[in-house]
Amino acid sequence: MNVTEVFSKINVELKDKLQFLDDKPEENLESTIKALWLAAAGLPVSAEKAGNVSLPELNEDQLKKLNKLIDFRLKNIPLAYITQRQSFMGIEFKADKRALIPRKETEILGKKALELSHIITKSKGNAIVFDVCCGAGNLGISISCLNTKCKVYASDISEEAVALTRENIELLTQNEQVKVFKSDLFSEFESNKFHGKIDLIVCNPPYISSAKVVKMNPEISSNEPVLAFDGGMLGVKIIQKLIADSPRFLAPQGWLVFEVGVGQGDFVIKLLQKTLIFQKINSTTDNSGNVRVVFAQKSPLLN
Ligand SMILES: C[S@@+](CC[C@H](N)C(=O)[O-])C[C@H]1O[C@@H](n2cnc3c(N)ncnc32)[C@H](O)[C@@H]1O
Repeated sequence: MNVTEVFSKINVELKDKLQFLDDKPEENLESTIKALWLAAAGLPVSAEKAGNVSLPELNEDQLKKLNKLIDFRLKNIPLAYITQRQSFMGIEFKADKRALIPRKETEILGKKALELSHIITKSKGNAIVFDVCCGAGNLGISISCLNTKCKVYASDISEEAVALTRENIELLTQNEQVKVFKSDLFSEFESNKFHGKIDLIVCNPPYISSAKVVKMNPEISSNEPVLAFDGGMLGVKIIQKLIADSPRFLAPQGWLVFEVGVGQGDFVIKLLQKTLIFQKINSTTDNSGNVRVVFAQKSPLLN
């Protein structure tokens, strides 16, 4: 059988067996089979990229491997953990169970943060950026690749996530433009080197309430680290700490930008207003009109 015939046969076999999650819109029957096929051929790419790559013929061993990878997927192992690749902001990241799989919806945050970074580097020439709760390092690394005038400090409380970020830094960046640290939010940065010096803080924090975390789809809850989701009883524990602590690190007129869960926008905006430290408090919505990103600038009068 040739490539087209094998592909069609697998397509028919899997049509009613695979499930796809709303928060991974890039995954469908065709992109999944293509990504698994390319991984079996030793050419791993993300589901997003697989759509544009033509499939090579597979030898007998590679066909066996493809069947094994299909079995993993049918057992609900996330596609990105099988291929070890996930696209974010057009960049191919290494992904594995050490950290959350970067989501398409987080590109709303990535794009806003990149836009703010360009505003800063246009006026100052360069920018110092924090990516806290960095996971696989996707936000900080994509900002550094797409705005080379940024120096990025990434951090995460999970040692495993930090190790994965380090591998993505080696894979995707040059010139020590991105560094990563294990840190409980800002704890490793409490020094004069960082206080009042940061131009942009970007964060995709855990923001799902503990009660909802246990009810998540098993593909997520059985595979991705719970630490990436659990935002405490009301879901906003880390966000509250982020808003309280970031002014200490932001330079005057520095920006804080972060992702929020659906329905959290109004509450979070009020929290920012209450501090009397931030100005230009604003938000970005998704295609359904939900606030998904909140951003604010530290007042120029505060040190
Ligand atoms: C929603 S994931 C975001 C990962 C990545 N930035 C992204 O956008 O795909 C949240 C991350 O926050 C980390 N985290 C949870 N609590 C933390 C804390 N107190 N301090 C630092 N990182 C934390 C988790 O380990 C996880 O990697």
